[in-house]
Amino acid sequence: MEESIIKKEDRAHVWHPFDQMKNANILPIVRGEGTYVYDEHGKKYIDGFSSWWVNTHGHCNPHIANEISKQVQLLEHVAFGGFTHPQAVRLAKRLAEITPPAIQKFFFSDNGSTANEVALKMAIQYWYNKGEQRNKVIALKGDYHGDTFGSMSATNIDNMNTPFEPLLFESIFIAPPQKETITTTLSILESHLKTGEIACFIYEPLVQGASGMLMHDAESLSQILALCKQYNVLTVADEVFTGFGRTGKLFASNHLEEQPDIMCLSKGLTGGFLALGITAVTDTVYDAFYSDDKGKTFLHGHSYTGNPIACAAANGALDLFEEQHTWDNVERISMLQQELTERLNQHPLINEARCLGTIAAIELKTAEATSYFNNKGKDAYKYFLTKGILLRPLGNVIVIVPPYCISTDDLHYIYATIEAYLNLEKA
Ligand SMILES: Cc1ncc(COP(=O)(O)O)c(C=O)c1O
Repeated sequence: MEESIIKKEDRAHVWHPFDQMKNANILPIVRGEGTYVYDEHGKKYIDGFSSWWVNTHGHCNPHIANEISKQVQLLEHVAFGGFTHPQAVRLAKRLAEITPPAIQKFFFSDNGSTANEVALKMAIQYWYNKGEQRNKVIALKGDYHGDTFGSMSATNIDNMNTPFEPLLFESIFIAPPQKETITTTLSILESHLKTGEIACFIYEPLVQGASGMLMHDAESLSQILALCKQYNVLTVADEVFTGFGRTGKLFASNHLEEQPDIMCLSKGLTGGFLALGITAVTDTVYDAFYSDDKGKTFLHGHSYTGNPIACAAANGALDLFEEQHTWDNVERISMLQQELTERLNQHPLINEARCLGTIAAIELKTAEATSYFNNKGKDAYKYFLTKGILLRPLGNVIVIVPPYCISTDDLHYIYATIEAYLNLEKA
């Protein structure tokens, strides 16, 4: 078939993220509705990865679309330095009710990377404002926190940031918490905490998304957080991916005994409609900046910080999280994902199938090292496209992270297609 104009013009002028543009096959999508998106020829695809894990209530969800539409006609934007508006205030107030009780202040930015970047800068300046030099950050091996320099520095995925490594600040990476190894991990952690140089511990709680949905133990993570607290080291939960129902609860932190000092939110915050990041902090963190001394000001902000339309989308998405049917869907999807991964764990071509809440990951056996750059998932990706499913594997890991409105039939269709693909491979 001759290449369409949109594809030709895209190739001529657009540089896409996370793809090698040489030989990239970019698919134009022109419409979305609920679980589905449609290409320029009207072909329907099930969005099995929630468009990079952002979509929670379905594409073009009428309630969120309506909230945005009302806001666009009222106030599209106003600078957030020196000004405020009702949508941001309402959002902050509502977030204060659903995040851990000690978290009461909300700093706005544009995306997940900036939410984390802000958290890291806040943690460093928190100590600076208190007259202490604490410049080191601890994170988990395999963590991904984004693509700005601070969040890249706290990221630990092979080859991801190689060209920039000389410029990244040095972080300390400890093993993700697992029951079998937690005693050793805690003693290594404590040796670092004792130095008095650590500003914060940042972590992807329970699921390390970009590393291929690696999952760790909640109780052991709580032990790590408790130890950090014993040494007054700030704890930063990167809930950019895990937030808003993905793990079966509103936040992954809701599975834990210990709560963070700082929580970073984005992706599902606006239901997947608009870019918005939030760095949520306790009053203790906020108070270290609250001063007559101007030098203690947090000098960070973006032109579109607190954009009213993005905040309206977030308020619309939160309305839907207050409805029982959303949580019924989360529970239904979680049960189906659980059944699938239990079944697939017996499959000879699968290393491991794992699941937490609505997140399922199927790690294919591969001769190459298992990493983001492993080629195994590329074939699977193409196969799923021919079957009308968008699933963007991470290396050799097939990931199913659907919008919560997905029907049981559509999930079963995704599962049957994955199993058909595995049988093709076996043959
Ligand atoms: C855990 C986590 N943190 C941060 C980010 C970065 O978010 P963004 O792509 O919005 O910058 C991501 C993106 O996938 C993520 O999964």
